Amino acid sequence: MENRFTGSTIMITGGTGSWGQELTKQLLLNYAPKEIRIYSRSELNQVKMKRAFDNQRLVFYIGDVRDKERLNICTKDVDYFFHLAALKHVPVCEENPWEAVATNIIGTQNAIEAAIQNNVKNFIDVSTDKAVDPYNLYGVTKACGEKLVIAANNNTTSTHFVCIRGGNVLGTNGSVIPLFKEQIERLNEITITSDEMTRFLMRIEDAIALLLFSSMHTYGGETVVMKMPSCRIIDLAQVMINRLGNKSTKIKHIGIRPGEKLHEVLVSKYDARNIVDKEQYFIILPNIPVQTIRDNYKKTDEIENEYSSLKKPMMTYGEIESMLKKAGWLASNGVTNIEAYLKTIDKETLENIFQKEGWIKQNS
Ligand SMILES: NC(=O)c1ccc[n+]([C@@H]2O[C@H](COP(=O)([O-])OP(=O)(O)OC[C@H]3O[C@@H](n4cnc5c(N)ncnc54)[C@H](OP(=O)(O)O)[C@@H]3O)[C@@H](O)[C@H]2O)c1
Repeated sequence: MENRFTGSTIMITGGTGSWGQELTKQLLLNYAPKEIRIYSRSELNQVKMKRAFDNQRLVFYIGDVRDKERLNICTKDVDYFFHLAALKHVPVCEENPWEAVATNIIGTQNAIEAAIQNNVKNFIDVSTDKAVDPYNLYGVTKACGEKLVIAANNNTTSTHFVCIRGGNVLGTNGSVIPLFKEQIERLNEITITSDEMTRFLMRIEDAIALLLFSSMHTYGGETVVMKMPSCRIIDLAQVMINRLGNKSTKIKHIGIRPGEKLHEVLVSKYDARNIVDKEQYFIILPNIPVQTIRDNYKKTDEIENEYSSLKKPMMTYGEIESMLKKAGWLASNGVTNIEAYLKTIDKETLENIFQKEGWIKQNS
């Protein structure tokens, strides 16, 4: 089917990462681009990706987003630019603050300038809920990145600049699900920072759908957010223990890590004043006036307060399990039939699950 990417040249910084590989896969499968450029530093990761994809339309460029000149050269004749490259681990950014600034802020400005200089049509920046009311340096650098990208939209008419904010993507490099799985398999225990902690969760397919929606249905200057479920991390741990662990799998409390928040926010109370509600997405309009935005959007009523991961209802055990199953995290190693599953959990846990699911009443 003909679409805006058909026959186009697409640049993906950070293309070897979790988001980058899924985006590449979906573009190749469904959108018939002429060329996809993968721009990142590790030779090994590029070689692995090249072998795994084995596709002539992929072109690999070794480069650092901090290197403005290299990025500029590699952006020649690019139509669509997805900026994914980042340092994204909260503790790593806390411990190496200047590295986080250099990659996530200076690297983003370099990407913006390369896009403008090469008349790229559309530039999408991938940000995060941690950029909203940021507490850690990762969030601060991503918030600066967002500001640079949205402001750049006013410096040119040839390139449309848009941001998206993701929640926690299930199973991406270094995320909590592979960590829990490994901890269960190797140590028969899971480490939890706080029983209260909540997070927004999204599947990688939904994350890429958000990216593609944002590059096709925006005018420049918007920040697009997907409405997504949130869950207590302790519930996620319990579901994984129920499916992958056994009666003696322990939960160890290690306390909140430097820079971590108990809850995340996707739309702040300030963003909430400037919002359009579009089915499964919220579109945050820029606070700098932009004519195309005025012409194309009617502001929806403010959403109540902010859109936080503490919002009700939280995901139930059943919903968490079904999300994990769909994303393939319980498929091979988990207990696959319900009888065997029930045998692995004790009476009290089972009662708790039944109560949470609403199958039995409290104290019944
Ligand atoms: N994963 C999540 O849950 C999540 C949620 C919300 C937002 N995000 C955002 O989504 C984006 C992608 O995340 P991801 O999970 O795919 O991360 P990832 O798997 O760690 O991939 C990061 C990518 O960026 C590249 N990169 C890092 N530093 C670079 C530099 N200085 N120059 C060029 N390339 C560089 C890495 O390759 P090399 O190391 O080889 O350079 C890799 O290709 C990031 O911007 C992240 O902040 C992620």
